[in-house]
Amino acid sequence: MAKRIEDLTIKENRRLNNDLFILELSGNSYFPSLKPGQFAQVRIEGSPETFLRRPISIHDVDYERNTIKFLIQIAGKGTERLSNMRQGETLNIIYPLGNSFSLPSENAKVLLIGGGCGVAPLMFLGKYLKSKDYRPEILLGFRNTDRIIEFDEYAGIGPVYLTTEDGSKGEKGFVIDHTILKDSHFDHIYCCGPESMMKAVAAYCFKNDINCEVSLEHLMACGFGVCLCCVVNTVNGNLCTCIDGPVFNTKELKW
Ligand SMILES: Cc1cc2nc3c(=O)[nH]c(=O)nc-3n(C[C@H](O)[C@H](O)[C@H](O)COP(=O)(O)OP(=O)(O)OC[C@H]3O[C@@H](n4cnc5c(N)ncnc54)[C@H](O)[C@@H]3O)c2cc1C
Ligand code: FES
Repeated sequence: MAKRIEDLTIKENRRLNNDLFILELSGNSYFPSLKPGQFAQVRIEGSPETFLRRPISIHDVDYERNTIKFLIQIAGKGTERLSNMRQGETLNIIYPLGNSFSLPSENAKVLLIGGGCGVAPLMFLGKYLKSKDYRPEILLGFRNTDRIIEFDEYAGIGPVYLTTEDGSKGEKGFVIDHTILKDSHFDHIYCCGPESMMKAVAAYCFKNDINCEVSLEHLMACGFGVCLCCVVNTVNGNLCTCIDGPVFNTKELKW
């Protein structure tokens, strides 16, 4: 798919908690057909320390309103600057980048697992799967009640199961401890979150013969396969997360 470099206009910058926010942006021309799992390289204006673009997943797309959303966690200077952007300002992005999640087989029982800010690409994926007549279920993990985000939005896609590390809501522990993983058999699991969480989910899927796809958040510079700073070791050799990923079937990864 052809890449675009575009200035988008910020319609809303909505704070979800201390360090998470959603940027909703409108396009000046119609968005091309985007796929869940793809990302954009976002330019951070006016900051010599952050001259490299920052990769951010597509969180949601509304083709009728011609808007796109990014769910962002403040990690350093670049994302901090983005968190201070206001309605009407413009953001320059290169998109769509990377591959995408694959469709499960027909009638597959599907689970989306997200942890913390790792829920970002799963909203678009969940809505997409629902539009294709799948019935995705969703398992979300957060540190505590205050960190829970977008519960109602995910509940609009399918049944939501919840864990918090302190047990303040849902089941206590990590997503991998949730009883749904013991009580049900899923055919296809999609996962995004901290690497330790994705590795635990990958091991569970391997043991239970479940197809599993994860979205990797490796450090990136160019975003289109030139600098080789995002290489990941796979059974097919070293691959670039930015062009061969960010979505990988866990059977491919040498974890
Ligand atoms: C394909 C892809 C999709 C992503 N999607 C999202 C998203 O939807 N929402 C979101 O909030 N973040 C996402 N990230 C992570 C995001 O790109 C980084 O958090 C961001 O680049 C940090 O920039 P910064 O200038 O704020 O921080 P920096 O000052 O560059 O770094 C601050 C800290 O964050 C760490 N960091 C930097 N880049 C990454 C990275 N790529 N992954 C993990 N840690 C990193 C650094 O090691 C450092 O510890 C994604 C990353 C990738 C590769
Ligand atoms: S970020 Fe440069 S090759 Fe992937």
